[in-house]
Amino acid sequence: MTDTTDIMTSSVLIGAIADFPDGEIRPASMPDGTTLAVYNVAGTIYATADLCTHGEASLSEEGMLSGKIVECPWHFGTFDVTTGKPTGMPCTVALRTFPVTIIEESVYVEF
Ligand code: FES
Repeated sequence: MTDTTDIMTSSVLIGAIADFPDGEIRPASMPDGTTLAVYNVAGTIYATADLCTHGEASLSEEGMLSGKIVECPWHFGTFDVTTGKPTGMPCTVALRTFPVTIIEESVYVEF
């Protein structure tokens, strides 16, 4: 019997590099309706789940990016957006991360 738990991924075009300014967070809509948070950290683009793992605050709407650390405004927990790992309480569960590819100024997320 075939294992059907493998998750298929596809490349989703989320915009041009210029749509993601350095030091800022932008939302990106996925085909299934999910929103991701997309960060520009010193010229490199990263994508994570949008919702904080502590209380489901939207990081793309309300998060504060400082270097590679995003702070959730609800209870001030923090994550490293390059790895998704929590870096400050009360957050203890990592954010899911998504690989980002740049092709000719266009930004794609493996979703
Ligand atoms: S909801 Fe993000 S730290 Fe509580």
